Amino acid sequence: MPRPPLVAKSDSAGAEEMLSLIRQSLKSCRTPGETNFEASTPHIFVVMGASGDLAKKKIYPTLWWLYRDRLLPENTMFVGYARSGLTVEQIREKCTPYMKVKDDEQERYQQFWAVNHYVKGSYDTRRDFELLDQEMIKVGTEKANRIFYLALPPSVFDTVTSNVKSCCMAKSGWTRVIIEKPFGRDSESSAKLSNHLSALFREEEMYRIDHYLGKEMVQNLMSLRFGNRIFGPTWNRDNIASVFISFKEPFGTQGRGGYFDEFGIIRDVMQNHLLQILCLVAMEKPCSTAADDIRDEKVKVLKCMQELTLDNVVLGQYVGDPEGEGEAKDGYLDDPTVPAGSVTPTYALAVAHINNERWDGVPFILRCGKALNERKAEVRIQYRDVAGDVFHGQSKRNELVIRVQPGEAIYCKVMTKTPGMSFGLEETELDLTYGDRYKGAKLPDAYERLILDVFCGSQMHFVRSDELAEAWRIFTPLLHKIEREKPNPIPYKYGSRGPAEADAKLAENNFKYYGSYKWTKPSSL
Ligand code: NDP
Ligand code: BG6
Repeated sequence: MPRPPLVAKSDSAGAEEMLSLIRQSLKSCRTPGETNFEASTPHIFVVMGASGDLAKKKIYPTLWWLYRDRLLPENTMFVGYARSGLTVEQIREKCTPYMKVKDDEQERYQQFWAVNHYVKGSYDTRRDFELLDQEMIKVGTEKANRIFYLALPPSVFDTVTSNVKSCCMAKSGWTRVIIEKPFGRDSESSAKLSNHLSALFREEEMYRIDHYLGKEMVQNLMSLRFGNRIFGPTWNRDNIASVFISFKEPFGTQGRGGYFDEFGIIRDVMQNHLLQILCLVAMEKPCSTAADDIRDEKVKVLKCMQELTLDNVVLGQYVGDPEGEGEAKDGYLDDPTVPAGSVTPTYALAVAHINNERWDGVPFILRCGKALNERKAEVRIQYRDVAGDVFHGQSKRNELVIRVQPGEAIYCKVMTKTPGMSFGLEETELDLTYGDRYKGAKLPDAYERLILDVFCGSQMHFVRSDELAEAWRIFTPLLHKIEREKPNPIPYKYGSRGPAEADAKLAENNFKYYGSYKWTKPSSL
């Protein structure tokens, strides 16, 4: 059953009120083989790789926030599992900088750690998983539902999932496994992993996480498109000139260069986060909001896409800015964890096409990069020029911008009469800025929503195996060609907008930049 809408927001609803709405909706959330969250069935959430970076920066903080807000089933226990000989107290210390605990939450925070446990074990020894199983029975009884979060390097996915299957499945109730990207590195390796997993678990037991699907504005794409009459009729090749989906980060690899270099920006961000957004922008209206109806539509979009080719791609790699401060002085190749002479791209722009009746001829431009001038993720729908313009070329294209982060907003650039006696035209915007319109609303972190979805058994915001296979089909030939031919990425300065060649590619692909639009930030923001 799809999870009920998480938050029914209004300006007047305070954070507490909203949490209570979420709790209410969870109570009606039934899961296969279970009654509901009011039932006293225990749940055990296992963090595999509890000693790692993802666990301390994202998973434990998320679990704490959900626990703090009483959004999890009453009787939920947490078990960390990793190779290091750690205590719960040591995990707590590692996590502390990321937990954001307020003074008046100390008591609840103690309670959270009191329901945490830790088991030391290797990833490839069956006996250690048997001990993990015993610990889970001890802390949660035999009846507990079990969730395993694989916050682990992909090299151990196979052995860990095999051991979970043979030793740690729930004795009654359900078992769910959350898997983090990378789901392979090309079609072949991804298919291998998928085959391995599907031999162990049913699709409804697997939750492939793409955390962009948990972001407020990404989830809002469906509401915006299908909950309004005004967008539908213009959402097509007759009206839209180009779609630009963009991700920018203002920092470099920050010592993660070793990991990053194996993957590059295309695998790190474009093939998953940006492609998922593209699917939600381009898909047809699903016949319901059930997970599989939505995922069916997303797969259809992917099936209509041709493989990407190098001539439709711009690749870049950042170099240090001698005038920059701190990290900005260093280029990608100055990161000691990056192999000397690496040609791995830290910036990529790719032009994709969807060969169907709605989108034929409309460029979908995907762009992502590190060490750029700002942090920003957005979708920019640029409309065609006005036909039969009577304003002597003054009309500029409408743009509908869905800003995913930071500062969630939807704004539509429109032309208006210059106020006053003049009859001239000027650019302005219809602006829905969340910070202004929904003051005080709590927008949960992407991981909070997604982990809650797993408890609820809702796969709407998770990637299905056929989606994944199609995503790799589109990207694998390009990635292989880049690996074979090693084209030199275009250098761009740390803190810049990226290579100028990318702007030229945008212009070639029916994206017009005027440089004339000015926005005045409201004083309330
Ligand atoms: P602009 O017209 O300034 O920019 C439009 C797009 O063109 C962006 O994607 C931009 O950034 C890109 N661009 C910039 N320079 C070039 C170039 N030389 N060649 C090609 N493309 C270029 O409009 P924006 O929508 O970006 O708005 C301007 C500012 O106002 C933004 O900071 C925006 O966030 C803010 N704003 C905020 C609102 C809100 O919070 N509610 C509402 C409206 C505006 P790039 O390629 O660098 O990403
Ligand atoms: C991750 C990438 O998937 O997403 C990182 O591996 C990137 O390189 C991150 O920094 C961005 O996520 P967010 O939520 O901060 O935009």
